[in-house]
Amino acid sequence: MLEQLKCEQNGTLLDVLQVINTNGKGIAFVVNEGDEFIGVLTDGDIRRLLLEGKALSSKIGDYPNTNCATAQVNETFQEMLEKTSDAVSILPILDEQGKLVDFFQYQNNVYIPVAAPNLKGNEFKYLVDAFLSTWISSSGTYIRQFERDFSTFCECEYGVAVSNGTVAIHLALETLGVGKGDEVIIPDLTFAATINAVFHANATPVIVDVKEDNWCIDPAEIEKAITPQTKAIIPVHIYGQPCDMDAIMDIAKRHNLFVIEDCAEAHGATFNGKKVGSFGDISTFSFFGNKVITTGEGGMCVTNSEKLNDRMCVLRDHGMSKTKRYWHDEVGYNYRMTNLQAAIGVGQLERIDEIIDFRRSIEAAYVEMLADVDFIRFEPHFENRKRITWLVSALVTNGKRDLLIEKLKENSIDARPFFYPLGDMEPYKDNVFSNANSKKLSATGINFPTAQFLTPKLQERIKAIFEELK
Ligand SMILES: Cc1ncc(COP(=O)(O)O)c(C=O)c1O
Repeated sequence: MLEQLKCEQNGTLLDVLQVINTNGKGIAFVVNEGDEFIGVLTDGDIRRLLLEGKALSSKIGDYPNTNCATAQVNETFQEMLEKTSDAVSILPILDEQGKLVDFFQYQNNVYIPVAAPNLKGNEFKYLVDAFLSTWISSSGTYIRQFERDFSTFCECEYGVAVSNGTVAIHLALETLGVGKGDEVIIPDLTFAATINAVFHANATPVIVDVKEDNWCIDPAEIEKAITPQTKAIIPVHIYGQPCDMDAIMDIAKRHNLFVIEDCAEAHGATFNGKKVGSFGDISTFSFFGNKVITTGEGGMCVTNSEKLNDRMCVLRDHGMSKTKRYWHDEVGYNYRMTNLQAAIGVGQLERIDEIIDFRRSIEAAYVEMLADVDFIRFEPHFENRKRITWLVSALVTNGKRDLLIEKLKENSIDARPFFYPLGDMEPYKDNVFSNANSKKLSATGINFPTAQFLTPKLQERIKAIFEELK
């Protein structure tokens, strides 16, 4: 695209017009023969020059506006954004020698998805490296590195990279021997992957309610739902909020139950200073594109047990013996992650703290912007739980949640309602033990996007919508 914006200084006004006509942006960047930036000419400038009597064949010469806004390669997105205005929406980006190397364009009213991957570090470099190594399937150094680095991040000994977060839960259940006739307690407020994985293991899900204050599975409801068939609990750290892991681990210990933490939405959150994922027998993560870090599709099981780690590695790879290739002692799965995905994951992990901080700053901006809106209650914070911001989650207490989502959508801002209560849906309705709070939360909850920080223009758009809804 940059080439379509460029015009050489020794050309004519007609050349500029042709450049502008091709790029459709109303502007051309004029450069000298050495690609050094001279200035800009807009379609309005050309019109004025023609009205002053200049010919289309006139040389560009000194006509470009040299006093225009430019950006330097090392400037941040925010710094560049601040240089834009309604009149100037596109900036040439120059290197230290003053050469034109790129451009920055801010479009108001662009579609803002609810979440977007942040791939600005070494992800592409590592991906190309993995590609060039030709180890593009599920062997390769990035897999091992990603497993090692991510399990360390989770304060766990072992990591088993898999194809997505759903099979991670299934693999955990299979590895722990949870299957037919076993009951698995899960929360009602979660993405369907949690319950589907239980069905995939041929076990019976038992859906229990969440707590109204923290939106996570209610330990008191777990306790009530336990039967002699109960084999495992899957607490879900929903919308970045850690569950009460003290209470859950205590219940599990007393009733001899396995705990599989579903951490798909909570990478890096802590409970009592300890990372989520480090409490359960096995914990699972998702690296889907909308998650805190992504590998496109992808997931990981983490554990502190060498035995469980070894069994997961075997089951992930068709149940193939670790010591005798192509020898199968049991039926397994192909749940492997590719080296290409892991390469992206390694790049993502290098910046996970920065990404978490970025999402947190977006939430802080929402909280500040909507401080005087009395019908929005943002996701709570608790003293012993350091939650993360996955999406910016809140409750809309004036009954206008759906209207708000509609209005945001009309303004190209993608917000989404909380997950539907699992128990309200046909495939799961017979598995409900309790879900009253979940129903209430589901009817009022909203997720605002974390895809882009709140620029002043975006804030104006959102504030105007809230004014309408007051
Ligand atoms: C709570 C929860 N569990 C599990 C998953 C499944 O992850 P994946 O989409 O990678 O299969 C997701 C995400 O989609 C999720 O939000």
